[in-house]
Amino acid sequence: MMAKRSEDHLPHPKTGVLEYAAQLAERYIGSSSVDHRKARGQYFTCLLVARFMASLYRAPVRRVLDAGAGTGILTCAVIERHMKETADQGLHIDCYEPDECVADLLDLCLNHARHLFPLLSFTVRRADFALSALTSRDSLFGESLDRYDLAIGNPPYFKLPAASEVVQMATSQGISGTTNIYSLIMNLAAGLLKLHGELIYIVPRSFCSGLYFKSFRRQMLAELLLSRCTSSKVATACFETKRSCRRTSSCGFKKAERLERSF
Ligand SMILES: C[S@@+](CC[C@H](N)C(=O)[O-])C[C@H]1O[C@@H](n2cnc3c(N)ncnc32)[C@H](O)[C@@H]1O
Repeated sequence: MMAKRSEDHLPHPKTGVLEYAAQLAERYIGSSSVDHRKARGQYFTCLLVARFMASLYRAPVRRVLDAGAGTGILTCAVIERHMKETADQGLHIDCYEPDECVADLLDLCLNHARHLFPLLSFTVRRADFALSALTSRDSLFGESLDRYDLAIGNPPYFKLPAASEVVQMATSQGISGTTNIYSLIMNLAAGLLKLHGELIYIVPRSFCSGLYFKSFRRQMLAELLLSRCTSSKVATACFETKRSCRRTSSCGFKKAERLERSF
């Protein structure tokens, strides 16, 4: 897929972390096919939206999850803010990216970030986040997983076949939102938050109304407080640099004590 070797993508030592993640995304778009990206839900966030998303959580954070990290644009927006505001504190980020080519670029990006900010630690898991999270929940060790202060994401968006392994597993664990990979990833990421942890996600507008995501919304709102929902000009952005423009929304949730609600 990528014609160039990894070392051809090395940045100037002073390139900003977020700019580098965006450069890598642009190069990836230039060397991969539309069909390949479409099948995997690969639409990369632009810098403006990434910075906006990273402005929404309450700092400082120590442990961050980016499930569907791409080349690291949202992760790097978090790192950039952390470097500006709390540079004396460590930061750990777990990223999931199952596409090998994209994960190679993510590795390059986060190594560059660690060069600029040595208190950064990270993992790049080259795995399907939904399957990994469902498998951990299912195991005896699920409850003892390290939890996150922040889950930030622009997850892939595509329908999941009802007969797929991931849907069968999720259904058997009583998880809603299995019709689409985005809602499943978002629901599972919410389950990995610490108490008072925050979930900042780019969501399709259909998240906010309609029948399609109704049971998913209910499950999310039973566990989390919706702290903000934005559909403004700042969230209208070029998700594929120079290629397409989409209107979308972003949501912020906070993990609360168990909520008593009647719907
Ligand atoms: C919409 S893109 C967003 C990338 C990046 N977060 C950003 O904002 O630029 C979603 C990413 O999730 C990855 N992905 C697809 N299926 C996935 C899965 N099951 N688990 C984790 N990541 C997945 C895709 O390869 C893609 O890089």
